[in-house]
Amino acid sequence: MKPMSIRDALNSSPLESFSTSQPLSVVGVCLDEETWAVLKLFAESAPLIKLRSHLSEYRTDDTEPASEWLGSPTPDICIIDFDRDRKKAALVAESIRSTAADTSIFAVSADAQPDLIIQAMRSGCSEYLLKPIGREQLLNAVARVGGRRKERVQPFKAQVLAFVGAKGGCGVTSLVTQLGALLANSFSKKTLVVDLHPDFGDAALYLGLTKYRYHFFELVENTERLDGELLQGFLARHGSGLEVIPAPEGNSAPRRVLPGAVAQTFEFLRMRYEYIMVDMNPGLSDENLEMIRHCDQLHVVTVAEVSALRNTVRQFEYLTRKEIPRDRFRVILNRHHKRSLISDGEIEKTLGQKIFWKVPNQYAHVVKAINGGDPIASLSSSDVARNLRDLASHLGARNTSGEKEKKKEGSGILGLWSR
Ligand SMILES: Nc1ncnc2c1ncn2[C@@H]1O[C@H](COP(=O)(O)OP(=O)(O)OP(=O)(O)O)[C@@H](O)[C@H]1O
Ligand SMILES: [Mg+2]
Repeated sequence: MKPMSIRDALNSSPLESFSTSQPLSVVGVCLDEETWAVLKLFAESAPLIKLRSHLSEYRTDDTEPASEWLGSPTPDICIIDFDRDRKKAALVAESIRSTAADTSIFAVSADAQPDLIIQAMRSGCSEYLLKPIGREQLLNAVARVGGRRKERVQPFKAQVLAFVGAKGGCGVTSLVTQLGALLANSFSKKTLVVDLHPDFGDAALYLGLTKYRYHFFELVENTERLDGELLQGFLARHGSGLEVIPAPEGNSAPRRVLPGAVAQTFEFLRMRYEYIMVDMNPGLSDENLEMIRHCDQLHVVTVAEVSALRNTVRQFEYLTRKEIPRDRFRVILNRHHKRSLISDGEIEKTLGQKIFWKVPNQYAHVVKAINGGDPIASLSSSDVARNLRDLASHLGARNTSGEKEKKKEGSGILGLWSR
């Protein structure tokens, strides 16, 4: 598909890619009278949707999958009112997401609190429509579903793996880029690296990628009109098959990210990849916190130094106060050395947590890989290569074809692991 420029993308309406030949079927759940009336009027005035049924209760019985009560074939859209009972509404959305994945779920509510929006998105809603629903709001949401239906998206559900340093320079970007390229190439996984630095991110640089025009925060700003075609314009592609959404260069004005927008963008990206690796800036910004709430696992990359370990402890304490479940944290000890002054046992005692993974200290190998010169020629064998291969397996990556892992030479930093 030809990449779309951001200007083209911004000027186009989602309606352009939406065929009106076949209206989208809609089922409502617990909608109030006014909302149902708006939907009726909308369906009568434009042949974009067809109202199929309206259920007056939340069906949350585990023994009755949503695919059964939604009717056959399952509808294109299910619109759920979240105001009567948010908990039950979220359960209904989750049930639809797991048993009727082709049905898009819209939440409707009069409450615009960011936390509530994020919760609804996490339960599987792709749209959050505020009451009273406006025609334009509805039109755009419906058109996005129509556009997506045309795209025939492969139904992936990525693991979102976030990586943050205990302090600067712990090795986050090295690990994220190398592991990402490995997953994409040796394990044939559809993998994306997102550089979440507000400025001066290094992920694209470490992969030798210079041909890109847009960065992650521009994507977030366009989250309302996100579809597969718009996304193409934001991707930089590495020879390994790894795709990257870079960070801003650092020469643009600081931007304000709307609460919920990062989570919404990742909800969209999740459906298009098997692994998403996020390179985060050290620190506890609102965007980082939102990311951590939304990821599957947070890897804190630390080293055996007092300041890094102290910061790791502080980060865990802070995140626990913010009600991030402890089982989401993983400690990666980088530049591991068996004869380190601080032993592994002492580190685990200090952190109050087991070390999830240890990456050996191999400065020469890592620095050659990221210098972008000729890493393949310079790395004939590497413990880091073997170590990260094991880590990829540990993260659940298996070669689905059952073949031996691909050994591809001459593809940038991948040479690092293939020897
Ligand atoms: N396993 C390792 N062994 C030895 N050196 C390493 C290892 N991993 C990373 N390094 C080195 O550490 C330095 C910092 O790495 P990197 O830029 O990946 O860290 P970072 O956490 O992303 O830093 P920043 O906070 O600036 O984004 C680099 O010079 C890199 O070569
Ligand atoms: Mg970095």
